[in-house]
Amino acid sequence: MKTEVAIIGAGPAGLLLGHLLRAEGIECVILERASADYVLGRIRAGVLERTTTDLMHRLGIDERLKKEGLLEEGFCLADGERLIRIDTLALTGKHVTVYGQTEVTRDLMGAAPERGLDIVYEAEDVTLHDVDSDAPYVTYAKDGRTHRIDARFIAGCDGYHGASRRAVPASAGRSFERVHPFGWLGILADVPPCHDELIYANHANGFALASMRSKTRSRYYIDVPLTERVEDWPDERLWDELALRLGPEAAARITRGPAIEKSIAPLRSFVFEPMRHGSLFLAGDAAHIVPPTGAKGLNLAASDVAYLSDALIGFFRRGCNEGIGDYSAKALARVWKCERFSWALTKLMHRFPDDGPFERRMQVAELDYIASSPAAQTAIAENYVGIPL
Ligand code: APR
Ligand code: PHB
Repeated sequence: MKTEVAIIGAGPAGLLLGHLLRAEGIECVILERASADYVLGRIRAGVLERTTTDLMHRLGIDERLKKEGLLEEGFCLADGERLIRIDTLALTGKHVTVYGQTEVTRDLMGAAPERGLDIVYEAEDVTLHDVDSDAPYVTYAKDGRTHRIDARFIAGCDGYHGASRRAVPASAGRSFERVHPFGWLGILADVPPCHDELIYANHANGFALASMRSKTRSRYYIDVPLTERVEDWPDERLWDELALRLGPEAAARITRGPAIEKSIAPLRSFVFEPMRHGSLFLAGDAAHIVPPTGAKGLNLAASDVAYLSDALIGFFRRGCNEGIGDYSAKALARVWKCERFSWALTKLMHRFPDDGPFERRMQVAELDYIASSPAAQTAIAENYVGIPL
C-alpha cells in the first residue's frame, strides 16, 4: 500500500494530525498497536488550552466539547490555610476548558470514518525503514500477515515507549531527562467537585490536586513515593489524605465516593532533540514528556501537530520545503517553554525528598510573591492558558 504520510500511534497527537491532513485532502494512514477500546480506557489529564480547543474547532469536531466542556476562568494554589487565586481570564483574556483527554480521543476517533481517516488498530511489530531516505516505509503484522506501507513521510506519534524515536540513530539524537522522585496517585469518582476551579496544593504531607471532569465527576491526585502501590490506598485513606492536604476550606466541601479508577503515574521531564530525522517527524509524547503539574502533555502534543500539519500541508499543497525544515526548531522552542513551566510548578508545589528548610523557605517566598504580585500571577496565567503558537 502507498500513502503520503504514515502516522504511528492513534493517541491525541496521531488522531489530530490525521484529521488535519485529511481536511486538506492529504492521504494518510494511522497504525495503532492497541485496540480502540484499550485506547479509550486510558484516563489522562483533562484541561485544554485555547490552542487545543481552537484546533478542534478548526476541524469542526468540537460539538460535544462546546456543549460539555467547562470553561474555567481561573485556578487556585493552596498553601496551608491560604488559597491564592490566579484569575486567568482577567489576566490573559483567555479561558481553559475542562474536558477529558479520553473524550477528545473519543471525538476524534468517532469522526474518523466519515472523514476518510484510516486507522489500523492492533497493528503489531510496527517497524520503520529507510527514514533517512525520501522513500521511507513501515511494516507491521496483523491477522497473521506482514503488511507494508510506503510513504513520503512518517509521523511518529506513538508516545514515550513507541518505536519511532528508536528509529533515529543514536548519533543523530540527544535526550534530556529528569525522573522525579514520586508519582501521582489519582482517583476518579462520580461526585461533585469540591470547588468550581482546580486547586493545586502544597502541604507538609505533600502535593494534592482537586480537579474535575464535569459538575458530577471529580478527579483528585496526591503525590506518593514510587514505592507505594494502589492497594496501599483504600478509598477512605485517600479521601482522608486529600482532605488534609487540600486545606480546611476545600476539605469542608469534598464529597466522597467510590473510585471508578485509581492509578499511580510516575513524573518525568523528557525532551528528545531533534524532532525530525530525514523523513521521520516526532510529535507529542514520542518526543517529550512533562510532569502533569499544569496539564501540558496533551496541549503540547496538539501544538506540535499544529506546526507539523502546517509544514506537511505546505509541502504537499504548495511544494514548499520551508516548514519541513523549520518544524523541529519551532516545535522545540515551545516544548522547552512548557517543560520549564511544568517543572517550575512541580518544584513550587511538591515537597522533594532532598529538600531542606532552605528550599521550603524558597517555596514560601515564591508563593508569597505570587499572592501579592499581579505581574507574577500574569506570568503563571499566560503559561497556564497556553503560550501562543
Ligand atoms: N506501534 C503503534 N502504536 C504504538 C506503538 C507502536 N510501537 N507504541 C505506542 N503506540 C501507541 C499507543 O498505544 C498510544 O495509543 O501510540 C499512542 C500514543 O498515544 P499517547 O501516549 O496518548 O501520546 P500522544 O498522542 O503523544 O498524546 C500525548 O497523551 O500520554 C498522554 O500525557 C500525555 O497528554 C499527553 C498526551
Ligand atoms: C486532571 O484533571 O486530570 C488534571 C488537571 C490538571 C493537571 C493534571 C491533571 O495539572
